[in-house]
Amino acid sequence: MNEPRNMLLLGGSGFIGKQLAFALANRGWRVSVPCRRPHRHRALLVHPNIRLLEANITDPAELKSLCQGQQAVINLVGILNERRKGDFRRYHVDFIKAVVEACSAGGIKRLLHVSALGADQATGSSLYLRTKGEGENLLHTFGQRGLHVTSFQPSVVFGKDDDFINRFAGILSWYFGYFPLACADSKLAPVYVGDLVAKIVNSIDDRESFGRRFTVCGPEVFTLRQILELIITTLRLPVRVMSLGKGMSRLQAIVLQNLPGKLFTMDNYRSLQTDNICTDGDLCDTSLRRYVEGLPAMFGNKRDYDRFRKDYVQTRIPENPS
Ligand SMILES: NC(=O)c1ccc[n+]([C@@H]2O[C@H](COP(=O)([O-])OP(=O)(O)OC[C@H]3O[C@@H](n4cnc5c(N)ncnc54)[C@H](OP(=O)(O)O)[C@@H]3O)[C@@H](O)[C@H]2O)c1
Repeated sequence: MNEPRNMLLLGGSGFIGKQLAFALANRGWRVSVPCRRPHRHRALLVHPNIRLLEANITDPAELKSLCQGQQAVINLVGILNERRKGDFRRYHVDFIKAVVEACSAGGIKRLLHVSALGADQATGSSLYLRTKGEGENLLHTFGQRGLHVTSFQPSVVFGKDDDFINRFAGILSWYFGYFPLACADSKLAPVYVGDLVAKIVNSIDDRESFGRRFTVCGPEVFTLRQILELIITTLRLPVRVMSLGKGMSRLQAIVLQNLPGKLFTMDNYRSLQTDNICTDGDLCDTSLRRYVEGLPAMFGNKRDYDRFRKDYVQTRIPENPS
């Protein structure tokens, strides 16, 4: 029998990270998930192969000690908005340097990383995308020196506990009348979290993936407006989408970025100025349309739930591929 191998999963307490932790654990990896507030993520502990620990991963010494005894590291740490000026650089670039140093100190030979579609150090349309690109470049430069690196650039990711469909569905469920939508014509190719996770897990031992960057997209392209309309139609909400022009979209970003929760910022606005779709690579299978049609089970009433169970029970989407 093969010896279990150890994996350090940085960002394993997040939306994608949790799904990945279960998928790795199901494949027999012993997964360590360091995080700031372990009590919030106890659900991970139902799997005997997952270890949850409290740690400050931004402390280079602590990171080095976490890397000891691991065979591989996956990094998912990332932020969509800055709390303090410089946070994008801190978590998307400086943190990557610390991860690479910790890997070399721990003798780790395999490092996988989740970046973002459109990440480009030179041409990214937002600071989020430029710093993501810079971090990725840094990784792949070091990847030439004995550390086998693979990175993934997903479009927007959906699935249970996402911050995308859930957020819009949550807001729209409380809304009526015209919903003012910024950047309504931006194109996205939403990818299901289970598909992304399967790609990452399958790459770990695949030598063909060493040194490569993969774009990851779902099978459909939607505008942001079409996604909202899909949610509205499915949930039968009394809401209509009103697309905002460039000027009003910017104004909305300026207002919302100064409110608690930062629902939308100027940097998000800039990210949405480039289409978030794949021009090459294999597309993943799971349809966002199909997924959203299952939303009444989460947000609707009992009649919707019963209809969902009856219609879709045969085509249930696997959350943890193994
Ligand atoms: N979700 C998407 O649609 C999408 C699309 C493209 C790319 N990505 C990229 O995929 C990665 C994972 O995304 P996600 O949606 O799973 O994000 P998420 O749910 O926000 O999780 C982010 C993870 O990073 C950790 N983290 C953030 N700031 C930290 C800090 N200051 N110190 C320590 N840990 C910190 C979080 O730990 P705590 O639990 O301690 O907060 C959490 O585990 C990110 O790099 C993101 O940029 C996501």
